[in-house]
This record gives sequence, C-alpha cells and structure tokens, in this order.
Amino acid sequence: MNLENTKNQEVEEFSSETKRQYQYIENLRKWHDQKKEELGRPLTACVQCFGCQMNARDAEKITGILEKIGYQMVETEEADFVIYNTCTVRENANLKVYGRLGYLSKLKKKNPDMMIALCGCMMQEQTVVDKIKKSYRYVDIIFGTHNIFKLAELMQARLDSDGMIIDIWKDTTEIVEDLPSERKYRFKAGVNIMFGCNNFCSYCIVPYVRGRERSRNPEDIIKEIKELVADGVVEIMLLGQNVNSYGKNLESPMTFAELLQEIVKIDGLERVRFMTSHPKDLSDDLIEVMKNSKKICNHLHLPVQSGSSRILKIMNRHYTKEQYLDLVDRIKTAIPGISLTTDIIVGFPGETEEDFEETLDVVRKVRYDSAYTFIYSKRTGTPAANMEEQIDDAVVKERFNRLLKEVQTIASGLTKKHEGTVQSVLVEQVNEQDASLMTGRLSNSLLVHFKGEEELIGKIVDVRLNECKGFYYIGELV
Ligand code: 5AD
Ligand code: SF4
Repeated sequence: MNLENTKNQEVEEFSSETKRQYQYIENLRKWHDQKKEELGRPLTACVQCFGCQMNARDAEKITGILEKIGYQMVETEEADFVIYNTCTVRENANLKVYGRLGYLSKLKKKNPDMMIALCGCMMQEQTVVDKIKKSYRYVDIIFGTHNIFKLAELMQARLDSDGMIIDIWKDTTEIVEDLPSERKYRFKAGVNIMFGCNNFCSYCIVPYVRGRERSRNPEDIIKEIKELVADGVVEIMLLGQNVNSYGKNLESPMTFAELLQEIVKIDGLERVRFMTSHPKDLSDDLIEVMKNSKKICNHLHLPVQSGSSRILKIMNRHYTKEQYLDLVDRIKTAIPGISLTTDIIVGFPGETEEDFEETLDVVRKVRYDSAYTFIYSKRTGTPAANMEEQIDDAVVKERFNRLLKEVQTIASGLTKKHEGTVQSVLVEQVNEQDASLMTGRLSNSLLVHFKGEEELIGKIVDVRLNECKGFYYIGELV
C-alpha cells in the first residue's frame, strides 16, 4: 500500500476495517488523478454541516477522507461533490435541508457529473430516506451516523452503479479508529469520547438516530490527544451526548472523572473542555477533578431543560428542580466563579404558566452566563410527540421572549463583572471586521478582541478586558 502522508508501518498497525477503507481511498485517489488530468484541475468538494459539535467533528472526518482522495475543499456548493451532514434535533433543521436540496438540483443540471451525498442524524429516519428516494432522485449517496468511516467505499459503489446508494445502519457497537481527519483549527480540536445516548428524554430524537451509548477505549482517546498535542493543539473539547456516563460499558469500566484525570496529565495540553453533561450523572468526583486541575476550563454546560419538577419527570430527565439547584450549589461552592451555561426548552406538552415560572425561577437562582433557549419541536417517534396538550404557538412565543429577556439581562450583568480583569486567552483568529485586531477566547468561552499580531494565533496570552460590549470584550495585551 502506498499512501501519501501515511507511513506503511502505521497502516500495518490499523484494524482490518481501517485497512479496507484505506484501500478504497487509494483506488479513488487513482480515479481522481485521472479525472484531474482530463479536466486540467482537481475535483472540488463542499462539506456543509448542520447541528451540534458532534456533527462538526464528523464533518472533519469526512473532509479528511475527501482530501486524501485528492478533492480540493471549497466553501460554495458549486462543487463536484457536495455533502450535507444533517441534524434532526428540531424540525427546522430538516426543513432547511429540503430547501437547500432544491438549490442543489439546479446546480446539478449545470454540472451533471456532480455528486450529492446526505449523511448525519436526519438520514437515520426512515421517513426522511423514503421522501428523498421519492422526491429527490438526483441525490447520489445517503448514509447515516454509524458508517461515516465507509464514505470512500460508498463513493466507489456509486461510481460502479447508476442508482442512488443508500447505506443506513440502525445501530452498531463498532468504533473504527485511525481514519484520516482534517482539523478546522490547528491549535484546538474536538475529540469524541463516546457516541450515542441511552437516556431517552421524552422530547429527544437523538437516541433513535445516534443509537446506544458506546465509549471509546481510554488508550485510543489518550493516543489521539497526544498526537494532536504533538501537532500543535493546545485546547481540546471532549465530545459526547452525555460525557458523564462515559466508560460504563467498557471491558474495564472507567468513569469520566478518571478519564479526565488521565487527560490533564498530558504534557503540552493546556486547556480541556467537555460537553454535554447530564445533571443526573454529574458526580462529586468530577467536581473534585475540575476543582483541582488548572487545565480544565472554568466553564460547565449543564442543560436543565425545564425548572418544573413535574415537567422534568415527564421529560424523563431523572432529577427534580431541587436536585438540580443542589448540584449547582455544590459546583459553585467547589469552583467559585465557574461559568455555567444551559439548554432550556419552552413549550413542552402540558407546560403551564406555573411550570414556566419555575423555569424562570431556576434561571434567576442559577444565574447562567448564557443559555441556549429552544422552542419545543415535535419529533415523530418520540413519546412527547404523542402527548396531548401540545401548547399553542402564541403562548410558547410569548414565554420564549420572556425567558430570553431574563437570560440576557442576567448574562450581560455577569459579563460586565469581569471588566477590568486580566484573563488568559487563547488567540483564535484575526478579527473578522477589523484586521488590526485579534480575537481570542477566555477560559469561560467568551470572546475578546484586542490589538495584536497574527503570529499570536494558537498561543495563550494575558489580556486585560478593558470594555464589556454586552457578550464580548475589547481588551489589550498585557
Ligand atoms: N425540541 C426542542 N429542543 C430540543 N432539544 C432536543 N430535542 C428537542 C426538541 N424536540 C434541545 C435540548 C438539548 C439541545 C441539544 O436541543 O435542549 O439539550
Ligand atoms: Fe437527547 Fe436527553 Fe440524550 Fe441529551 S441526554 S441527547 S437531550 S436523550
């Protein structure tokens, strides 16, 4: 096997599935070289990603495979290969994809050799696949969340046939390691520690589309992070639908707190973040590890979803308002000044004004640094979709606006409190509006813009936060 940038010895160590996939990549590389010669240019590819951080990480894996084949990545959909990595957590996300597919059909008429692939959570729904098969015949490849590693094999299958290739796995226990991956940033990276979710919150479609919980082996995670650090990464974000239940199903079980403890020992790694934490599984051991490590960022995303114990029960969240507030107290006592963020759903079936008031009460008590607020979206197949008492749109909208106002007032007050302090900041990029400024991220995830040189990108520097501008700061290097 002769692969660019991949040492033979490394390939020898790969699993047989990984080797099989590298063989498909190699074959497509030869096909691509031929195409390139015919056209006098490389083929172009555009990966559009919808949804969460897990999807963004999957998009990097897709990009990695396409670049190995030889594709030149472009931002626009006027490309030879367009792939949408979809999300289905709320109905809006689905509608967006159907809208964009209409646009792609026009592009494909201009460039009949264009290939269109759809993958991600939305494709794990049978009704979606049926609809695409019927009404969007020009789509070339459909695959799901469990078999991204097979992209090259599926592309080969498409080239060898004249119909749509559909490969959706209902679920899997397989985790294929060591495939190529292209990072969006050279100094920070997302690292999957687990896939899937076993919680079945009654509104949520994720367990149906992402399958059961599977944790990666700690050795594979540590190896990946060490390689990233050797490659210049200073900040990692550990990713999982519910990181707090990491390791339960491993051959030698391990807790998330234990995994974190190993990760923070890695030399050269400066910052560690993680998401998402389910409150029901957040242990005192984890609080202790967070408290004792300077590398773990001063931020915790702790979705509450609702402040009403009655609604939380119907949501199947396994905690009450009081238990959540007690957990927040323990966290704040152990780690003073920690930044807390959350997710909140408004308009869950049966939510009364009193229930909603309980949510506002939690917001006022916890004082979140920011909150992602969502209007409840009915997802077919979930228990909540069949509940009577779906809430009237106008009522939901009114509650949503009240919640947003409360969240924003508290958040801007908290942001203002840091004005004048000096904070360590990871410099991420040249400011998009003003090229004389750099943009960096604080440990609590907020952004600061300050005068600086491009060479600072990827470095952690001290910045004084001179002026709070609502949800970001203007600062200066110290
Ligand atoms: N409707 C609205 N919001 C939802 N979320 C998950 N499912 C739904 C739904 N059906 C929100 C939750 C979750 C976040 C990722 O998306 O708040 O934490
Ligand atoms: Fe969905 Fe609940 Fe699992 Fe989060 S924990 S992915 S909200 S089912």
